[in-house]
Amino acid sequence: MIRKLQITDITQVVKLHKNELSGFLSELGIPFLKKFYKVSLDIPEMFTYVEENNGHILGFTSGVSRTKGLYKKIIFKNIFYLIVPLLSYFIVHPLKVIKTLKILSYPAFSEDIPELLTLVVKKEEQNRGIGRKLFQAVSEEFEKRKLREFYVSAYERLPANGFYRKIGCRLDRSFNFLGEKMNYYKCRNN
Ligand SMILES: CC(C)(COP(=O)(O)OP(=O)(O)OC[C@H]1O[C@@H](n2cnc3c(N)ncnc32)[C@H](O)[C@@H]1OP(=O)(O)O)[C@@H](O)C(=O)NCCC(=O)NCCS
Repeated sequence: MIRKLQITDITQVVKLHKNELSGFLSELGIPFLKKFYKVSLDIPEMFTYVEENNGHILGFTSGVSRTKGLYKKIIFKNIFYLIVPLLSYFIVHPLKVIKTLKILSYPAFSEDIPELLTLVVKKEEQNRGIGRKLFQAVSEEFEKRKLREFYVSAYERLPANGFYRKIGCRLDRSFNFLGEKMNYYKCRNN
């Protein structure tokens, strides 16, 4: 069953995020991710859907209707809440401060566009149509928000590129992000 993220799902969602996604949020660690998803429940621009079966989260997806300033907004609005996991992470990994600052150069953070931020299906549940269902939930949510197009990015090395093409997204552009080729897809609501 596809439904919106609830606070009680966060432990499972974070585990999935950490295990299956290699992006910068994963690098910030589990305590940060837990707080990030908790805080996201109060950010109207952001939404997360989960596929749940008997209390098990099999996959989830997050989208945002406006990318500009999203992370700054999340972090600075909740600085007292997020500062402890962030500082603990940077004390253990001081060189990551520079990388994290470079992440803010991600093009969508200066543009104001709707974006599918994450889409993950548990490894043993992949290729059973869950990714498509979750993608559809995001697409419908954007439609409700009167947004006819949205974007999604994927590192070139990821098999997910094949999924996005299969599902009907079109390559809009590619760019170099933190030393790796990243593809940016444009997707339309049905
Ligand atoms: C990408 C991902 C979400 C797809 O989820 P999924 O549940 O396995 O996908 P589905 O079973 O719904 O597949 C839908 C269609 O896409 C196709 N597809 C799935 N993965 C594909 C791939 N890597 N390459 C090409 N086509 C793919 C399926 O064959 C299916 O086609 P069909 O409808 O004609 O049968 C999943 O593989 C995943 O979680 N990957 C790891 C996390 C990740 O990289 N996420 C993207 C970050 S940008």
